[in-house]
This record gives sequence, C-alpha cells and structure tokens, in this order.
Amino acid sequence: MKAAIYPGSFDPVTYGHLDIIRRAADIFDELTISVLNNVKKTPLFSVEERVKILKEATRDMANVRIDCFSGLLVDYARQKGVHVIVRGLRAITDFEYELQNAQTNRLLSRGALDTMFFTTSLEYAYLSSTTVREIASFGGNISGCVPDFVEKLIYEKYGIVKEAD
Ligand code: PNS
Repeated sequence: MKAAIYPGSFDPVTYGHLDIIRRAADIFDELTISVLNNVKKTPLFSVEERVKILKEATRDMANVRIDCFSGLLVDYARQKGVHVIVRGLRAITDFEYELQNAQTNRLLSRGALDTMFFTTSLEYAYLSSTTVREIASFGGNISGCVPDFVEKLIYEKYGIVKEAD
C-alpha cells in the first residue's frame, strides 16, 4: 500500500491545502494529514480544533486520515511506517525552506523518508494561513480562501460578527 503523510500547521486549513490534499489523495492509497503540535507558537486554533476542522473539511475523502504529532517528523513517520512526505510549493520563496526540510529529513532518516512536492494550483498560489488570519483579524473578506464553516470559526475567534449578505 502506498501511504504518505502531509504534515503542517493548518492554522487554519485553506483551499490551497485542500487542493494539495485532494490531489495527493488521488495518488496515494492512504494519506494522513498530520497537525504539528508546536509548543513554540501560539496558534489561532488549538491542535484539537484543527484536527476537528480538517476532519470536517475532508469528510468526502475516504482514504484521508487526520492525526497530530509533536517532535521530529522523521520519528513520527517511522512510527507510522510511512516513507513519503507530501508538501505544497507555492512559489520560489517556499523553495529554500522546503528544500532544507526535505534534505534534513532524508539525512535524519538515513534515506528512508522522501518528500514529494505538489505545485500549488495557480488560483491558490497567493494563499497562506498567515494571510488568511491577518485579513480576518481586520474583518476583511476571506470567503475565497477557506470553506464557509472555517470562515465562521475564524471570525468567531476574532470576535467579529459578520452581517449575512
Ligand atoms: O505548515 P508549516 O508550518 O509550514 O509546516 C511545517 C512542518 C510541520 C512541516 C515542519 O515544521 C516540521 O516538520 N516540523 C517538525 C519538526 C521537525 O521534524 N524538524 C526538523 C526537520 S524540518
């Protein structure tokens, strides 16, 4: 069985992430989306909330599992018996960071863990969770960036009440 892990912060999941998830799920038999529990960051959504949101957002994808992890990705992947990491590449600005992570993971795993990159669909190339949080925090429109139910949850977090259109 071909399995892969798509790790990330997903704070919150965007249409860009969901595009990568759908395309990776078409290629692999099983895809695990894993939320990093990063104690160094103060997230908008807790890990539990992000897991719940991802479950809801991928409920129509039968071969997608949602999980969380802390510590090193190589250790988590080894425990899961998975040898492929999925990541999205939006632009050249992502490349250096992603290349460094991919090379580090190959080195730490002694060649057991490879990274497969998906180029983000052009319509989502500008999207990031950071931008979505920033726009929402000022009450801006994020309807093209995240699913409707996620949009509501984000505004709730910022205490913003949106008028119905
Ligand atoms: O969505 P993000 O924040 O860009 O995801 C980054 C992530 C989770 C893929 C990366 O930070 C990660 O794998 N962290 C786990 C710690 C680790 O293994 N670090 C060393 C190699 S990169």
